[in-house]
Amino acid sequence: MKNSLYLFIILGFTFLLAVCKPAGKDKEEARENTGLSKSSLEARYQKLLAYPVDSLGFPRSMALDPEKIHKVPSKDWTSGFFAGNLWQIYMLTGDERYKEKAKVWTAFIENQKFNAGTHDMGFKINCSFGEGYEITENQQYKEIIISSAKTLCTRFNQKVGALRSWDFNADIWEFPVIIDNMMNLELLFEASILSDDSSFYKIAVQHANTTLKNHFRNDNSTWHVVVYDTITGNVKDKVTHQGFDANSSWARGQAWAIYGFTMCYRYTKDPNYLKQAEATTKFYLENKNLPEDGIPYWDFNDPNIPNAPKDASAAAIVSSALFELYSFTKNENFLKFATKVLEKLDSNSYLLGENVNGPFILDHSTGNWPKQDEIDQPIVYADYYFLEALLRKKAL
Ligand code: GLY
Repeated sequence: MKNSLYLFIILGFTFLLAVCKPAGKDKEEARENTGLSKSSLEARYQKLLAYPVDSLGFPRSMALDPEKIHKVPSKDWTSGFFAGNLWQIYMLTGDERYKEKAKVWTAFIENQKFNAGTHDMGFKINCSFGEGYEITENQQYKEIIISSAKTLCTRFNQKVGALRSWDFNADIWEFPVIIDNMMNLELLFEASILSDDSSFYKIAVQHANTTLKNHFRNDNSTWHVVVYDTITGNVKDKVTHQGFDANSSWARGQAWAIYGFTMCYRYTKDPNYLKQAEATTKFYLENKNLPEDGIPYWDFNDPNIPNAPKDASAAAIVSSALFELYSFTKNENFLKFATKVLEKLDSNSYLLGENVNGPFILDHSTGNWPKQDEIDQPIVYADYYFLEALLRKKAL
């Protein structure tokens, strides 16, 4: 009897709270007040933990209608991100189960250390073994990082002064270098420190300098692909592969540039790298086509804007990069923007719905618009940079 009286009072009170809620109070604010954001993130983390281990099928992205997970082998450029996500969730939560799972997924990528057919070694190895080494200092991880860096260096061309990005389209692109390739330099910088061998560092710096010289337009946006002549070392062409057209600004390309040059400044303290990172950030932040919420459309020049798909992955990369750029420049605008974007991503608008049964955290990324592939979907690398941004914010 006493219990039902209490129940009656609680229910009545809850009803009053519900009807008295200000009419204009938005969903997001209510959600933040209830702490739902945190529990949603936790729920998403658990989906990653529960995902069945498969050495041949790394989760890369997923279609939502109907739900179907796109799995790839370890040679795919995205294979290292899933392990990286588990390592980073371990760092965020301290829950050992994520660390144990991260070890398992990381081990499946070792077979890539001698794969010289790709520039994506940094994405694959640094995001998996690199994250793992930071946490465990496992000596085997260290050896794998150094071997992989040696393999990556076989793609360096002295005449061009850069690492070759892709081998496909070789009949039309003699020596293509993409802006994304800046991200793979982190593996070389780390290998240089771990091995005490400066040749990795020197190659990374030459690649960054060549990119700095040829990849940026006058407005500090970046081309996606620069094609070089291997006999003269001169630029032959400036084109795109994943952007809207050769002269458009592909959002993730701008993100790789901002992140890449900020990271290069971390290792070299070369002020030209910092200057470029700041200048491309200015282009990005001041672009008239950047939406109010700070999450870009997939390309700043898609004529369909505002009806173009967004790219949460570019947003996450930029957010993470700007936390670091802020630490070097103390420019409060960078910190404000990085925080705003991170909060937006960690909201109902971008978190993948709790009922979706896939090992991903964020929705609304665009992988390859020209190929109409992975449009407005959860993609594993968006989660990686989102988690990294959470860690960087926490560390400030
Ligand atoms: N590195 C390929 C991409 O950003 O889609």
